Amino acid sequence: MKGLFVVLEGSDGAGKSTFRERFEKKLEELKIPHLCTREPGGSKVGEKIRRLLLDPDNVMDARCEALLYAAARAEHVEKTVKPALEKGFLVLSERYVISSLAYQGYGRNLGKEAIWKINEFATAKLMPDVTLFFYISPEESLRRKTESLDRLELEAMDFHERTRVGYEELIHSLPVNLIHADKSPEEVYKEGEKVILDAWRRCNG
Ligand code: TYD
Repeated sequence: MKGLFVVLEGSDGAGKSTFRERFEKKLEELKIPHLCTREPGGSKVGEKIRRLLLDPDNVMDARCEALLYAAARAEHVEKTVKPALEKGFLVLSERYVISSLAYQGYGRNLGKEAIWKINEFATAKLMPDVTLFFYISPEESLRRKTESLDRLELEAMDFHERTRVGYEELIHSLPVNLIHADKSPEEVYKEGEKVILDAWRRCNG
């Protein structure tokens, strides 16, 4: 049995967590060995870095922010993702490198090349087998956000606009499965489920 590394991507409120919650039940039903995880976080140290990153009190330099996301990712890859893949698990991560390219590369204007370099180092070049990109409009994204906002979500509209433009460019240049997430939750779920289960069956026959 071979592991499969799946990443859920998309802007805040695009429906990644809703998808993950339902899909996790399906994985249990099908008895597929799996691990659901998230970024920033997904490891003991990574969760501590997450608290630093999302605390609205922690105003920080953009490069500091980019390196902290990459640091959390390095720990996540080594301590959580790789060991599970080696055991043949389906690993499902909410967010990965594309988030850093969009938010730090475009949103923070650090440039996608610089962010790519630190992330190649952080991940030791481990890239997902499948990326589902949940696509919704920025207005819809803000409308869906009801709970208290974290530090990134509190950023000005131009930051979110640059991030959105970044995502638009990235989804056309990277190998992602685009899911139009403004469709009904049922359609969105079914589409995503099919992509992942097909990939799992292809590698586990
Ligand atoms: P989270 O509550 O996990 O957001 P969501 O539920 O929308 O995924 O918070 C993660 C925040 O961190 C989110 O605003 C996106 C941001 N982020 C980056 O800026 N760069 C990154 O590399 C990652 C993984 C997340």
